[in-house]
Amino acid sequence: MIRKALITMLTMAAVACLISPALAGAHGDKRPVKKAILLVAFGTSIPEARVAFDNIGKQVARAFPGVPVRWAYTSSIIRRKLAKQGTLLDSPEGALAKMMDEGFTHLAVQSLHTIAGEEFHHLRQNAHAFGDMAEGFDKVIVGAPLLTTQADIEMVSDALIQNIPAERKPGEAVVLMGHGSHHPANAFYAALAYSLQQRDPYIFVGTVEGFPKIGDIKITLKQKSVKKAYLVPFMSVAGDHARNDLAGDAGDSWKSILTGAGIQCEVLLKGTAEYDNMVAIWVEHLKKAFAHLKE
Ligand code: CO
Repeated sequence: MIRKALITMLTMAAVACLISPALAGAHGDKRPVKKAILLVAFGTSIPEARVAFDNIGKQVARAFPGVPVRWAYTSSIIRRKLAKQGTLLDSPEGALAKMMDEGFTHLAVQSLHTIAGEEFHHLRQNAHAFGDMAEGFDKVIVGAPLLTTQADIEMVSDALIQNIPAERKPGEAVVLMGHGSHHPANAFYAALAYSLQQRDPYIFVGTVEGFPKIGDIKITLKQKSVKKAYLVPFMSVAGDHARNDLAGDAGDSWKSILTGAGIQCEVLLKGTAEYDNMVAIWVEHLKKAFAHLKE
């Protein structure tokens, strides 16, 4: 009697095992579609620099009314620094896990990076891994960073030129400071410089950590007998690099290097994301990603 009951129970368990994947699938299909946006930036610990991210948030909210928007910072150093000050920000992976738990089904992850360097590729890899999880998102699409296509290079060039102060006189240079990277995508800075110089031969692009270097630009400025240069961050926020490596008083800042070469410097301490025409390019990339979230 007991033996018979046991066999019946085992048979029932086996049948349950066989049909459970199908049931799980059916449950998955029945969940309501819940779309959301995750914005991912390197991050900044400088409160004044955060206006750039606020501006992106405003423009994204305007372009996607009613769509929930979350933020994540890729820099663990900045997240730790902010946590000590009482501001908690998620890593992309932390934000993705939370959004998965919240039951979002379709996710557009927008990279707010400037080039598709190492951080962007890590973000894409991990976001797609979340897209593959059982009972996870139905679809995850990652939007491209600022400089991805030739069309982006042209649009960014035009936007940068529009943002140059009107009081700049002919022969005065504009020197943009990009972050730079050991990643092959660093070549986008030189590609941007080429595009800018086709429009205006007195605009230059250098990087803090890649190529071209400020030393290269200094030589060209001297060759062209430039007397004055506007120094402009080419990073989403005017954070630590802009305030110290570009505009700082230390001897190795770009301001000090060029001033030492007899060039009068004027610093414009605004990140690219503080300009609506630049943010519009990121928002266009996000619109493309979001359009791929069809159920
Ligand atoms: Co850096």
